[in-house]
Amino acid sequence: MTNPEIERIYQLREELHTHNYNYYVLNSPTISDIEFDRMMRELQDLEAKYPETYDENSPTMRVGSDINKDFIQVEHKYPMLSLGNTYSEEEVTDFYERVKKSLNEDFEICCEMKFDGTSISLTYENGKLVRAVTRGDGVKGDDVTNNVKTIRTIPLVLKGDNYPKEFEIRGEILMPWEVFEKLNKEREAREEPLFANPRNAASGTLKQQNSAVVASRKLDAYLYYLLGDNLPCDGHYENLQEARKWGFKISDTTRKVKTLQEVFEFIKYWDTERKNLPVATDGIVLKVNSLRQQKNLGYTAKSPRWAIAYKFQAEKALTKLQKVTYQVGRTGAITPVANLDPVQLSGTIVKRASLHNADIIESLDLHEGDMVYVEKGGEIIPKITGVDIDSRTPGSKPVKFITHCPECGEPLTRFDDEAAHYCTNEDSCPPQIKGKIEHFISRKAMNIEGLGPETVDLFYQEGMINNAADLYNLREQEIARLERFGEKSAQNIMSGLEASKLVSFERVLFALGIRFVGETVAKKLARSIKNIDALMSATKEELTAIDEIGEKIAESIIHFFSSEKNRELVARLKDAGLKMEMEAEETAAISNIFEGQSIVISGVFAVHSRDEYKDIIEKHGGKNVGSISKKTSFILAGENMGPSKLEKAQKLGIKIMDEKEFLSLIKNTEKSTEKKKTPAESVNSETANEKQNKANNNIQLELF
Ligand code: IVH
Repeated sequence: MTNPEIERIYQLREELHTHNYNYYVLNSPTISDIEFDRMMRELQDLEAKYPETYDENSPTMRVGSDINKDFIQVEHKYPMLSLGNTYSEEEVTDFYERVKKSLNEDFEICCEMKFDGTSISLTYENGKLVRAVTRGDGVKGDDVTNNVKTIRTIPLVLKGDNYPKEFEIRGEILMPWEVFEKLNKEREAREEPLFANPRNAASGTLKQQNSAVVASRKLDAYLYYLLGDNLPCDGHYENLQEARKWGFKISDTTRKVKTLQEVFEFIKYWDTERKNLPVATDGIVLKVNSLRQQKNLGYTAKSPRWAIAYKFQAEKALTKLQKVTYQVGRTGAITPVANLDPVQLSGTIVKRASLHNADIIESLDLHEGDMVYVEKGGEIIPKITGVDIDSRTPGSKPVKFITHCPECGEPLTRFDDEAAHYCTNEDSCPPQIKGKIEHFISRKAMNIEGLGPETVDLFYQEGMINNAADLYNLREQEIARLERFGEKSAQNIMSGLEASKLVSFERVLFALGIRFVGETVAKKLARSIKNIDALMSATKEELTAIDEIGEKIAESIIHFFSSEKNRELVARLKDAGLKMEMEAEETAAISNIFEGQSIVISGVFAVHSRDEYKDIIEKHGGKNVGSISKKTSFILAGENMGPSKLEKAQKLGIKIMDEKEFLSLIKNTEKSTEKKKTPAESVNSETANEKQNKANNNIQLELF
């Protein structure tokens, strides 16, 4: 007998695939967003109830998950070649004439936009997306299938029925300008580093380990190249039109032409019109349309002879350098900024450009009052690419990098191997003091509601705070009496500060702003060292023994805690009630099945990250060690275990355990300790089991 709820799952999946296509590819939804979300939630609930209906191409896969999965490298079936670049009309003419001569028959050219994102190769089998791989080195790339599944314009299941049983389709993953600008605004507000351009933002997003983050970034994709044995037509353009019917997003800017003049018309039109496109482009691609003719023309070692890219000139503007000013960051790093006579460039008015560091100023041989060339070239922060020496005023002085901090007057220091100059007056240089507090309250650190850079500036000006610990001495009445603040916002800040006392130790550690201790390093330190007192007294040897902590980081940690002021800061934060150690349940032992065992972790894993496995081993009484020796108890091996490790393990006769076996070993111990758990813990272990079931499924799928 059929189960109506299971039937409903299949019905919802089909309907959601169609609505997804209507909304994202055609831009013409037929149902409301609320109805779409409702159907999606209904499907999610039903799928959770019937895990046996698991389908890796279900529309719910678009939501992403937070399972950490190191990327697996996959070899491309057909190498991903690049295109020859041209920059002038003469070179385009040469290409056209070369093709004409070689073919010695009529031919058509398909003119396309050159999309400026990150290239991707998608494999479909029986109408289903089975794999998405980045370009990598052209021969092999990263398997980013789970991330790509969150991109709504990429079909998981194809429409129609005339697609080849197996084929690849390649294209570009892009972050639309609008999404890019919004993302950077949010990052700016949170004091996070900005993405330089949509290309970097798209490729950075695609490499995110957490596919839920990828889903939130709203990437788009245009597909422009089909590969396979049984494509429907001989024409590349015609195949793309078929692919559009299967559900792919194919640019409607593509044109098929015959003459060189038509090619130039296309180039000329798009050189200006491209500014109105929603995504970044950096040129035009010309392709001989017939696949038969493409085959006849063949390839050079690097690129096809049947295609070429014409790159647009980066837009440049010439303007006058007014003066160079210097900004001081929270670490004391000095950034020189060129202040310019305002000039129009690629649709915006440019007034400032970063000069990065003293070496750049020197290599430009920049003089006061110089006329300088500014370029954007897709970058958000314009850069100075050259100087018009001919218009230089005789006798003008070279720009000299400052020797003292513009904010506090401290002489600047330049450390070995670093391009930047630093103000080392950490304790009384205002932008450093404020910058450190701003970092402390930022979203990824303590995430304190109600506080932002402007409030920090005001509290500092008013003499209410001088460091992060002072925040916890603030009183509601004291804030409420300030202009611009009412009782409500004062209360809001107080409750934000109170809530920050629940923030985990690893984030507190990150919030301290120790140089080189970013989010990942803070996590590693917290997991290995477990409490602040141990960290404060850790030696360089102890620190560098931690996975991925090198000398530079270790020295910086020791330097930070050698300061009496920093030790006092930590003590005050501790007194205020901030978490200065890992939670008992984060470190609590689960079993002692690995007691006395030294376990090596090698390769990449499907269910947990290597760090998570280290944690699991420790919670089960074992020790994770870095290298294989006679004393190694076993090796927990993921995919692509290094060949030298494998050889050594075999030589010493050490057992190699795969992820599945390891997880079922753990699962058994968790089962036997289940009865001792609180209800909350059982919920957690259910999710662990779910993850494991999924992994088992994946592993089985890979084997058969
Ligand atoms: S065709 C064998 N078409 O440009 C050639 N590439 O240097 C296959 N690109 O890596 C590529 N827009 O990332 C092709 N309409 C387009 C393109 C395009 C952008 C990128 C692609 C490729 C690079 C070639």
